[in-house]
Amino acid sequence: MTMNNHSKWVVLTGATRGIGRAIAGHLAQAGYDLILPTRDPATAEHVALELKMLGARAVVYPCDLSIAQQVEDFAKTVLKEMGTPYGFVSCAGMTCDGLSFQLDIAKVQKTFQVNLFSTMQLTGQFAMPMGRAGGGRIVLISSVSAWLGNRGNAAYAATKGGLQAYMKSVLEEFSRRGVTINAVLPGFINTDMTQGRDEWIERMSKRIPAQRVGTPDDVANAVGFLLAPGASYINGAELAVDGGMSATLGLN
Ligand SMILES: NC(=O)c1ccc[n+]([C@@H]2O[C@H](COP(=O)([O-])OP(=O)(O)OC[C@H]3O[C@@H](n4cnc5c(N)ncnc54)[C@H](OP(=O)(O)O)[C@@H]3O)[C@@H](O)[C@H]2O)c1
Repeated sequence: MTMNNHSKWVVLTGATRGIGRAIAGHLAQAGYDLILPTRDPATAEHVALELKMLGARAVVYPCDLSIAQQVEDFAKTVLKEMGTPYGFVSCAGMTCDGLSFQLDIAKVQKTFQVNLFSTMQLTGQFAMPMGRAGGGRIVLISSVSAWLGNRGNAAYAATKGGLQAYMKSVLEEFSRRGVTINAVLPGFINTDMTQGRDEWIERMSKRIPAQRVGTPDDVANAVGFLLAPGASYINGAELAVDGGMSATLGLN
């Protein structure tokens, strides 16, 4: 059933593909309207059209999250043109595979900008207006990598661990103003980010208690729950969506 969420604009990064695209569809079906910053406006316009067919309003803004100035400009333009959003879902992300002693620092810095710093910039711009407007919701798509070590994943994991540490102090600043901030931690989800690793994924699936990798919809459902009115008392949660993987030693 569609909830009465009209006029609740949600800023969602990373909606062109994978998990973000599923979140966009899920939120549109739940009655939210979507603001989509993207470095690929042509694809994002296709997504916006799909969302409009679901009854939502959707607007696309060009914004490359790896360029800090574009992120600042996007946030200011949204506040001016669209007003204060109800929600902000930070989903865009990139990987930074490589052993810790072989990392390319330029790639590491870009990964921090896309995964962590752009999220800090946008939260910094939106949280105060949300609080002044009576409340809001922020959901950060992190990763179980923030909890569990994985060879060759150090830089990416550091960005995700940073998101969760950041969340906890932001929470202290804004919870009295009715703004919640939570993290969703996907495990292995079948998207472009995990493509080309079929053999590895098949091996990993056997170690996941659910015996399968996740789908973008598995993650989108959790995000939808955290944005819904009934989740107003959930704040600072780190919600793993990983088929039970992070709860076990994976020895069976
Ligand atoms: N898949 C998994 O197993 C998994 C597990 C744990 C956590 N996650 C997290 O879940 C989130 C979504 O992952 P996914 O698997 O859906 O990844 P994906 O299919 O690779 O999609 C990544 C999204 O981020 C956007 N993006 C990347 N760099 C950007 C930039 N510089 N500016 C603007 N947008 C940018 C991409 O836009 P373009 O289309 O323009 O490239 C795309 O929409 C990420 O934060 C990821 O770290 C994924």
